[in-house]
Amino acid sequence: MRPSTTPPTIRLSDYQQPEFWIETVDLHFKLHPTQTRVRSRIAFKGNTDRTDGPHDLRLHGQDLKLISASINSTALKADEILIDAEGLSIPADLVPQDGFLWECEVETNPQANTSLNGLYMSNGMYCTQCEAEGFRKITYYLDRPDVMAVFTVEIEGDVPVLLSNGNNLGDGKWHDPWPKPAYLFALVAGDLVSYDDHFTTMNGREVELQIYVRPGDESKCAYAMDSLKRSMRWDETEYGREYDLNLFMIVAVDDFNMGAMENKGLNIFNSKYVLASPKTATDRDYELIEGIIAHEYFHNWTGNRITCRDWFQLCLKEGLTVYRDQQFSGDARSHAVNRIENVLQLRARQFREDAGPLAHPVRPEEYIEINNFYTATVYEKGAEVIGMLHSLVGADNYRKALDLYFERHDGQACTIEDWIKVFEDACNTDLSQFALWYSQAGTPRITVTEDFSGDTLTLTFTQTNPDTPGQTGKKPQVVPIRTGFLSPDGSEAAPEQLLVLDAGLKSFEINGLVDKPTLSLLRGFSAPVVLERQITNAERAFLLTHDSDPFNQWEAGRDYALSLLQGMILNDADVDPAFPKAMRAVAVNEALDPAFRALVLSLPSEDALAQAIFEQGTSPDPDAIYAARQTLAKAVATELSGDLQGLYSDLATPGPYTPDAEAAGKRSLRGAVLALISHVEADCATAKAQFAAADNMTEQLSALSTLIRHDQGDAEVQAFYDQWQADRLVIDKWFTVQVASAPADKAVDVARALTQHKDFDWKNPNRYRSLIAGFAMMNLAGFHRKDGAGYEFFADWLIKLDPVNPQTTARMCGGFETWRRYDASREQLMQAQLQRIADLPDLSKDTAEIVGKILN
Ligand code: ARG
Ligand code: ZN
Repeated sequence: MRPSTTPPTIRLSDYQQPEFWIETVDLHFKLHPTQTRVRSRIAFKGNTDRTDGPHDLRLHGQDLKLISASINSTALKADEILIDAEGLSIPADLVPQDGFLWECEVETNPQANTSLNGLYMSNGMYCTQCEAEGFRKITYYLDRPDVMAVFTVEIEGDVPVLLSNGNNLGDGKWHDPWPKPAYLFALVAGDLVSYDDHFTTMNGREVELQIYVRPGDESKCAYAMDSLKRSMRWDETEYGREYDLNLFMIVAVDDFNMGAMENKGLNIFNSKYVLASPKTATDRDYELIEGIIAHEYFHNWTGNRITCRDWFQLCLKEGLTVYRDQQFSGDARSHAVNRIENVLQLRARQFREDAGPLAHPVRPEEYIEINNFYTATVYEKGAEVIGMLHSLVGADNYRKALDLYFERHDGQACTIEDWIKVFEDACNTDLSQFALWYSQAGTPRITVTEDFSGDTLTLTFTQTNPDTPGQTGKKPQVVPIRTGFLSPDGSEAAPEQLLVLDAGLKSFEINGLVDKPTLSLLRGFSAPVVLERQITNAERAFLLTHDSDPFNQWEAGRDYALSLLQGMILNDADVDPAFPKAMRAVAVNEALDPAFRALVLSLPSEDALAQAIFEQGTSPDPDAIYAARQTLAKAVATELSGDLQGLYSDLATPGPYTPDAEAAGKRSLRGAVLALISHVEADCATAKAQFAAADNMTEQLSALSTLIRHDQGDAEVQAFYDQWQADRLVIDKWFTVQVASAPADKAVDVARALTQHKDFDWKNPNRYRSLIAGFAMMNLAGFHRKDGAGYEFFADWLIKLDPVNPQTTARMCGGFETWRRYDASREQLMQAQLQRIADLPDLSKDTAEIVGKILN
């Protein structure tokens, strides 16, 4: 039966302070797999700002069995407590309005909690996930981020390790001196071992560091620990932020919906973002571990010490923390390579989201299920907005503003208005137009015309702000456009400028030029916009060779490839012979960073091409896209055929594996070279040899993927499984590589067969994603098979997961968000599957919200 009441829409404009505040919370847990008892003592006090009382006591609670409750030690009778699916209410006349002690005991069933929100079990270990609204599945509470309290916790359980936030008082007792919202609460209990280290803060305080893992995994913690220590130091030197407890713990769990969680002093991580060894983790895994460890650690100040007033403000902590982790990774590795990787991600996920039915502002104004708003827009576009702010006010002002932010708002639950005000005050500037980046969804589109006369170049920019669901008639935003001017010899004809486009149409004059320069626009991708410019392939080739901004150098090559591929797909154009030559010049240029060369050599993704073609007003044909990429890659490989084997052997990294950026960069270029070799070598001999000889996962997996792409990998697929069947994180990769690299006509069958594999433990989110998302998101032509078999398979599995884990199901529905791009037949087939999901009688509100929006 469909629930008789549709779930309510929550609106930013309805925000009100709570009727009561909470000062302290004492929690007592008696752990049991199916009958955990939680006793709470909560000191409430009245909120004097809420003069509209007297108020009922309304507490959030879900899937709880209430055992007893009292107010100021007087037991409440059953008929005094109104319980519903979302919580309980006590009538105002029983509630002392200026404050009272609430005591309560509830029972929960962690084993039955497959949602992985609240208290649940993962392989026999107890753990929690409370962001956004999981604490209400642990006990009755004011589960909202503006209610901050001091927590004391006592845990009883038949397991050796009992962890919670703050300082360890021994015997399963914990005290966290920092007031926090309930979403930062955590508990972990199980048979765990810790990998220990320590850190001395800038003021000489000693902090114990512990990473808790399952026995046997201790040998895979060193890189995470090293990343943690570097993050702690970096936050001190770059932001002046010191850690504030004498213990910092990280726990790795196998069943986790997201990447990781910044619970105060007790970060909980998806084990794939902690555990690494050269043989089991790829270079990309190491990079992600470093970035996510940093991200969660940085939340201690941007998120925990200063938190969000309500969930509409999520980007206050997430956008800023992503921006900070990107700065950190750039400092730790290569700024240029990092920037390119981040922009690739931004375009693949956020631009895709912003262009489709799920588009929403960085600060959304309404939601049904907040878990659906942990999106690329809130996170990645949220970070871009801060990057723009940084470049508009300059580095010194940025630091001044951040200092003021920490000084003014420490200990508070804040809003985006607070954040903007800090910049206005610290930098003495008006940011009201800039703030549109937070409220207007959609990717601005910029055009530019150039007019050169005498010694003056006039640049005229236009900006359009496309309609998105529920938003039309937008205002022009503030778009910082870093611009360089190149002379014919490749040198800078004039100093780089930050042109600030803050209108629908605006011109800029650059004087004192001798020749008409070649423009290098939007250097470093200085704003998250689509730039449409008239440019010839010759100019693209020139920028690819000469631009001193590495991002734009890369962008020129990508743009070149994109335009050629579109011509090949839409107009049957032949490969422009200049392109492979330009690629060769980069590939063999030893003055360039190998990681950068690898990025230049990788062609635009199939999905990026599909989006570009759709934007030209044509339905993309996934098979044609696949074929064109093959043709172009082959042309590049042919041009380079004389160089490939030499490059391949020169790029070998002798000696034991190290995960540093330099070695990783060489391996990534070598992987790109291997892929090219396989286009010109009949039997994939080089890939086969690499697979056999590999002593690290990066090379083993790149060889395997290449072999599968060329339909030559059957023996290696089996060998890989035999070697790694005991390692769940590696077996996740085994599932993904088969569905992502399978030739299009086979992909659905491969995916379907793998769902029958005994290791396809689909209730584990990592395993589910490895196969189902690997197929739907990483194999464009396979997913979009003409007869709709891919769509049906994908929908079947969404339907299967929804009752078990709504949050992960809703997130995965994004696989269908681009359905309107395609031809009528595919569109109808996808719509039918979406409708089949939407019509399910017991669909979760998570999935209902997303599918409803996609269909609209
Ligand atoms: N705050 C976490 C982070 O570091 C993400 C938690 C998301 N969890 C959720 N259930 N929505 O980004
Ligand atoms: Zn975060």
